[in-house]
Amino acid sequence: MTTVLIANGPNLNRLGTREPDKYGSTPYEELAALAMQWGAERGLEVVMRQTNDESELVGWMHEAVDSEWAVILNPAAFTHYSYALRDACAMVTGAGLPLVEVHLTNPHAREEFRHTSVVSGVATGTIAGFGTDSYRLALAAVAGA
Ligand code: DQA
Repeated sequence: MTTVLIANGPNLNRLGTREPDKYGSTPYEELAALAMQWGAERGLEVVMRQTNDESELVGWMHEAVDSEWAVILNPAAFTHYSYALRDACAMVTGAGLPLVEVHLTNPHAREEFRHTSVVSGVATGTIAGFGTDSYRLALAAVAGA
């Protein structure tokens, strides 16, 4: 069975109450339950994690390489400036493992600083702008990968 690490970056633990006009009203725990269900429907084992800590996120990318896990990553604000995370993501795709970058919102339709993703260039692909459905679509992409 393919294992997929869904790694979520800073502030995503506040989903549900954080700027619901942008990020929706689904709490993080509910998204986690949905992701488990969507994964199971596609024969994927889902490991869902969230951290506000850049180094922890980098460590999880190393763990994915060592464990041969596919990765779905919402890097949150780290998307826009974390070269350390980018380099860790490059190790995932460099090892031949799929890495799908996801965003709830469409960063390109928002403030200019969000238009840059330092992660996209080393991701297998990016899904953005579909709310929690971005995660469902990313799981479908991994299942088909
Ligand atoms: C986000 C978009 C980022 O710009 C932002 O910093 C986030 C969430 C999204 O899922 O839409 O925290 O990654």
